[in-house]
Amino acid sequence: MMIKKDIYWTGYIDWALRNFHGYSTPSGSTYNAYLLLDEKPTLIDTVKRYGYEEMLYNIREVIDPSKIRYIISNHTEMDHSGSIGKMLEHCPGAEVVCSAKGEEGLKKHFGSDWKFKVVTTGDSISIGKRTLKFFPVPMVHWPDSMVTYCPQEKILFSNDAFGQHHASSERFADEVGIETVCKEAEKYYANIVLPYGSQVVKALEALQSLPIETICPSHGLVWRRAEDIKRIIALYTQWAQYQSEPRVAIVYDTMWHSSEKMALRLCQLLEKDGLAVKLMSLQAVHISDAMTEVMRSRVICIGSAILNNKILPSMGAFLTYMKGLKPKNRSGFTFGSYGWSQIGFKELEDALHESGITKLCDSVYSNWVPDEGELKRLEEVVIKIKQAIL
Ligand code: FEO
Repeated sequence: MMIKKDIYWTGYIDWALRNFHGYSTPSGSTYNAYLLLDEKPTLIDTVKRYGYEEMLYNIREVIDPSKIRYIISNHTEMDHSGSIGKMLEHCPGAEVVCSAKGEEGLKKHFGSDWKFKVVTTGDSISIGKRTLKFFPVPMVHWPDSMVTYCPQEKILFSNDAFGQHHASSERFADEVGIETVCKEAEKYYANIVLPYGSQVVKALEALQSLPIETICPSHGLVWRRAEDIKRIIALYTQWAQYQSEPRVAIVYDTMWHSSEKMALRLCQLLEKDGLAVKLMSLQAVHISDAMTEVMRSRVICIGSAILNNKILPSMGAFLTYMKGLKPKNRSGFTFGSYGWSQIGFKELEDALHESGITKLCDSVYSNWVPDEGELKRLEEVVIKIKQAIL
């Protein structure tokens, strides 16, 4: 698949992938490798180890792999580096170009004696008619991450940044539909990039002077229309600043429907006041989808039943996940039902704090089954939510 003259997509489409280290991927994913034909043919990133045969087939459609002179490793994570070793069997003289942290990580992962060429900010290599320039972007996604820019083509090979988990035979975002691709990019950001907002801001600043006509990420679709590039960069800017929409996310799990009763009443009251709300039971919604909604929303309501003095295990998993992703600049409220002790609710409240979410108002906890008086207390909560949102 030609992206531009003499620049080919040679990656692997992972149609069957349904879980990417805990992130649900109902649309599968792709690992994008790009082959640049020039005096020194260059491969930018590879694919997961199990996609190697397909990548090699794609490369052979274009060039004899022994001719490859450089393999650019923008990121050590194995969805991109997993096939470098196998590729080097075909082109043993090729240099592996990466950041200093990349060299460290690749050696640790593969114990390799590869020929490394370590680059840092602004370094470039000539591959013939074209130049490749490198910009480390630490923590977007790992300390080793970097992006590669080709000034002659105005292409940014952005690795994980601007990516989406989406398998399709189309290669360009505008072919799939920009709304779909932006939604996938949003889920990707919420579940992969969210904790690294300040590093994303720095990376966007470093790249803002580059004229960009095409963004080739390492997952999903390529951005080629000027309006789409502008849109995804604007979205990244907004997400990196932890901006939110005037929405409420309610995430809960229930044992005997008491916490659910509270969640439903809260939802009804918010709807009655015309507020946008999403009600998510962890029995039905995957934590990665709940997390996407949390990133979108200004107020986060978390509810659980208490089991053996602890919150429910599904809620424990969600909170562990959310604490790692740290959706800052949001307000939070906790609720739930208990039998004989409220001690377990401390986990809910601590998790909000650890996630960087500010407590909005007093929690509402109900003994056994909430009565109408307890449910009415939620009306006061809705007033606070409204104030926080507006
Ligand atoms: Fe797609 Fe952080 O690897």
